[in-house]
Amino acid sequence: MASSRAVILGIESSCDETAAAVVVDGREVLSNAVISQIDRHAVFGGVVPELACRAHVQAIVPVVDKALADARVAPEELTAVAVTNSPGLIGALLVGVAYAKSLAFCLGKPLYGVDHLHGHMYANRMAFPDLEYPCVNLIVSGGHTSLYLSRGPLDHTLIGSTRDDAAGEAFDKVAKILGLPFPGGPAIDKLSKGRDPGRVSFKRTLLEEGSLDFSFSGIKTAVLYAARGQDAKGDRAPTPERVADLAAGFQEAVVDVLLAKSLQACRERGVPRLAVGGGVACNSRLRAKGAELEARDGVRVYFPPPAWCTDNAAMIAGVAYHQWRRGPPDGLTMDAVPTKVYRR
Ligand code: KG4
Ligand code: ZN
Repeated sequence: MASSRAVILGIESSCDETAAAVVVDGREVLSNAVISQIDRHAVFGGVVPELACRAHVQAIVPVVDKALADARVAPEELTAVAVTNSPGLIGALLVGVAYAKSLAFCLGKPLYGVDHLHGHMYANRMAFPDLEYPCVNLIVSGGHTSLYLSRGPLDHTLIGSTRDDAAGEAFDKVAKILGLPFPGGPAIDKLSKGRDPGRVSFKRTLLEEGSLDFSFSGIKTAVLYAARGQDAKGDRAPTPERVADLAAGFQEAVVDVLLAKSLQACRERGVPRLAVGGGVACNSRLRAKGAELEARDGVRVYFPPPAWCTDNAAMIAGVAYHQWRRGPPDGLTMDAVPTKVYRR
């Protein structure tokens, strides 16, 4: 096992943010640069993969330069280079992986391929070094909604996942139905603030008794019918008041399901620690009800700062530190892998 200080450059390009960060020993974040493409995709109401790849190509060099400059670290001072290589949009991943390979090769530094979801889970450990293992991890993002039993930064067992839409995807699609801007999560969060979420109530889909899986496709249709009438035939757009009530009711139902399943997982596994990560972990209602759960149910609930919830490279450099400590690098034959099967 290596023993000296590890200064790791992380690179992230799996979806619609091009990001680079320098992190020391998996904890000390010297820089965390992100170039977001949200404006490019907003006009289309969702991430367009081809546009994402092109934007990554434009942003990758400037974002890595910025991360190194902000950290005041010269490339030669790096211990290793790390990059998200799975899961994600293949063209987007390839930009980061190809760049990281060339950089590692030119500098003669070891290269590590990092799992994007391990990154989201590590964000809490980076923010709260006292977070103990085992813990239950709830990952809620635009592409994933899953529960893991985690025994270490690199040791995660899948215990539940969505059978259809991810929670963030449901936020984005419901926002579109309601005529709200992309990304839908922040728009719905903002509109729901201070509203009574009980004015419109949606069914909480809990699936079979005891299941830790999720399903969010039904609630999308329920919102569509509530907004446009049965069979979505209504041609009159709902009033702004009604849109806000629907948004608040939808958000409440999703948050309730996420927390109910998470609490069930903690109880079943006898683990009184819940760490929530991914873009949807920015949600203010999820955070507020997570705090209520902590006070009521005796489970410590952790949320990273919002900048570490959405896609970033600090979490990638953080995980890579543990891969560096564990053993040999992946090397230049490492591949980008768009989908990944997690073992249960
Ligand atoms: O983790 P992330 O940046 O990218 C993926 O790996 O998918 O998550 C993006 C997702 C989007 O679906 C976005 O709508 C959602 O996170 N999101 C939110 C909030 N902020 C971002 N969802 C609910 N409330 C928010 N405040
Ligand atoms: Zn993500």
